[in-house]
Amino acid sequence: MTDAAARYVAAMADRGPLDIRWDLAPLRHKRYPSAEWVEPRHPLGALLRGMLGITRVIWRHTDAGPMAIPGRPAPSGGGLYPIEAYVACPDGLFHYDPVHEVLEVLRTGDHGPARICLTAVFWRSMFKYGDYAYRLICQEIGVLRTQAEVVAATLGLTVTPGDADHALLGLDESRESPLAVLHLEPYERVLPPEPADAPRNSGDLPREARPLPLPFPPGAARDLHRAADATSRARRPSPPARGIRIPAEVVDLRDGLRARHSPVDGFRPAPVPLTKIAAIAGLAVCPDLDLYLLALRVDGLPRAAYHYDGDLRRVRAAPLEELGSAPLVANTREALKTAAAVIVPVGDPLAGTARDHRDQLVETGASLQRATLAAAALGLTSRIHSDGAGEATDRVLGLTGPARSLSSLLVGVPRSRGPDLVLRFPDPQEGGPKARPQHTDQ
Ligand SMILES: Cc1cc2nc3c(=O)[nH]c(=O)nc-3n(C[C@H](O)[C@H](O)[C@H](O)COP(=O)(O)O)c2cc1C
Repeated sequence: MTDAAARYVAAMADRGPLDIRWDLAPLRHKRYPSAEWVEPRHPLGALLRGMLGITRVIWRHTDAGPMAIPGRPAPSGGGLYPIEAYVACPDGLFHYDPVHEVLEVLRTGDHGPARICLTAVFWRSMFKYGDYAYRLICQEIGVLRTQAEVVAATLGLTVTPGDADHALLGLDESRESPLAVLHLEPYERVLPPEPADAPRNSGDLPREARPLPLPFPPGAARDLHRAADATSRARRPSPPARGIRIPAEVVDLRDGLRARHSPVDGFRPAPVPLTKIAAIAGLAVCPDLDLYLLALRVDGLPRAAYHYDGDLRRVRAAPLEELGSAPLVANTREALKTAAAVIVPVGDPLAGTARDHRDQLVETGASLQRATLAAAALGLTSRIHSDGAGEATDRVLGLTGPARSLSSLLVGVPRSRGPDLVLRFPDPQEGGPKARPQHTDQ
């Protein structure tokens, strides 16, 4: 156990209401306005787009009037998208601009083996969630790792996770810090082979757009981040380069990529077959976490809490009503009324170093994104509800030791018509009549 992780976990268990600093809200995307653009070639462009691109526009009617929201392929806490992607490779160093679907050339020249570096712009999430944002950011790194693995599998690419490289990007790490690397194979050139035609920039990095995001404010999250960077792992790491085994005979996660979104108004209150819930849970399992399941509407499974490790074991018989006493956000309370099941990753947040704690958050996100894509592939839908993890959930799961619920994913049957009108942008690689934008309800 480490002091920094223990203080962070204690602070998050006792956090007050949100104090949102709208007056200090940062830019939504990072840009380097003076950088040259290159179009990422296939399949790199499709991989980046499939992770972070703007792939749909959502029209939503709210109390404050109609809104048009840019939608992305993978979920993000509060839709704030604090993660940036850079490409380092033998051609140069590039920043992905998801708005224009281009790579901004930061430097040409050999930057080592091809890899995507994921960084977090802390303030982009912290202006809303304060220190809690750090938990969401780390989970989102895991979400994007899973998303990259599955998108890569559609493109004949392999991504292998590695450790963040701090020297590479020349960042002011008080505002933006590298958190993960995804090695890419096979590698194809980003820039055209004729260097004379290629944009050149081998000196200083270009300046990023102003205003800069605010620095990471002092507090429990910053201490945890620094401690996690400064310490090494003590716990048994996940098997290296495990990737995702996609059990095609049950569910192919690639089939979930297109339909995935987080429903805004819960689910159709219909039961789901046990085989589907078991397939989802089976894909969420990972060696570093325990997996629990609340069965609310699962055919053939009594309403109860279960532990899942390939087999389902009932842990408590009928305590689900206790969740009603939990301090849940309104949309979680509503969605629980119609969900079929809740997937809950569980682990001891203080076993190991600060680095282990951060890794555990990353694994939580990676696990939930596998469950999310599995649900979408099976015609179901799901939404992460972070507040669904807490003391009340721990009681319902019968957790009395140091292990705690780390997040929660509500799964259910999609409503036939959602409240949003969504325009999906076609994948430029698709071509043909299918390439026209498509309207759907969501
Ligand atoms: C780490 C993480 C935590 C999230 N926590 C919540 C949550 O507590 N409540 C909620 O309603 N949605 C939560 N979401 C879902 C996001 O709000 C959602 O992904 C975002 O609004 C974008 O919408 P989309 O998933 O439909 O693309 C979370 C997503 C992530 C990745």
